[in-house]
Amino acid sequence: MDILQRDQHYPVPKGASDILGVEFAGVVEEVGPKVERYKKGDRVFGLVYGGAYAEYVTISEHMAMSIPEQFTFQQATAIPEVWFTAYQALFLINDLKEGEDVLIHAGASGVGLSAIQLAKKAKAKHIIVTAGHEDKLAFCKSLGATDGVNYKKEDFQQKVQEITNGKGVNAIVDFIGAGYWDKNLASLAVDGRMVLLAFLQGKSNMAPILLKRLKIQGSTLRSRSLEYQIALRNHIEKEVLPGLVDGSLKLIIDKEFGWEDIAEAHRYMESNQSMGKIVVNVTK
Ligand SMILES: NC(=O)c1ccc[n+]([C@@H]2O[C@H](COP(=O)([O-])OP(=O)(O)OC[C@H]3O[C@@H](n4cnc5c(N)ncnc54)[C@H](OP(=O)(O)O)[C@@H]3O)[C@@H](O)[C@H]2O)c1
Repeated sequence: MDILQRDQHYPVPKGASDILGVEFAGVVEEVGPKVERYKKGDRVFGLVYGGAYAEYVTISEHMAMSIPEQFTFQQATAIPEVWFTAYQALFLINDLKEGEDVLIHAGASGVGLSAIQLAKKAKAKHIIVTAGHEDKLAFCKSLGATDGVNYKKEDFQQKVQEITNGKGVNAIVDFIGAGYWDKNLASLAVDGRMVLLAFLQGKSNMAPILLKRLKIQGSTLRSRSLEYQIALRNHIEKEVLPGLVDGSLKLIIDKEFGWEDIAEAHRYMESNQSMGKIVVNVTK
């Protein structure tokens, strides 16, 4: 999102700061007159509509979360976007249930690594991931993926059919869009669900949507209302944060950069090498 916005391909939501960045961790500097949950000096983190690369951000007290004492600022700031997105994609949109099969594309992306762990926690049966490198697939498997497909060498549609005995998966989390459209539809089981989170371009063969009664939904977290985001935040605080604190869910930080190296941080993300979050330290 930061890269798209930097290149002027991501419209900033109305009223949001046009400074890059949507997640942060820091110390409360000042609170409004009606704020009850936090006071100056509290350590908080959260998701904002924009401006998180700045030294100061503003956030609704209902969206902010207290940083668990075990976590550093760097760990806390790596939580919101990937865990909110993965939780929303699997459960609020795809309605994934115990015993179902799921296909997660870009498995070693920050969102993908969170989705794998949440699918495992929800007791999904087959958690199939795609990635462009064997090391990435191995890492996905270490976190709970049951099957990996190197999309540069193998056909994921064929692998899904083999793994599910021709049934297809119940849910797909997709970031790729047009390039995967036909294969995604072919990979879904009857009554399957798919969420498109990035790069949807054009359309293709729509027939399986009708014949298999598929549900397909696009979503961007940033376009969601404050009420929706607060409800999602509450799910994360109750259902995900305790797992991150007790270590049953792993917080994956790939690399940290200093603020003065932000261009290098962007280049690193664009190189597709990362597995997990890239954290930038902004200091006064
Ligand atoms: N809609 C939303 O609400 C929402 C919220 C959060 C994130 N997103 C989007 O979700 C995606 C993942 O975010 P992230 O922060 O987790 O990303 P990330 O950690 O930077 O990982 C992205 C990974 O996607 C894979 N990839 C890139 N281009 C690809 C292509 N053309 N075909 C197949 N795989 C490709 C690469 O892995 P390989 O080496 O395996 O190819 C890359 O490492 C981004 O596109 C982001 O903008 C959307």
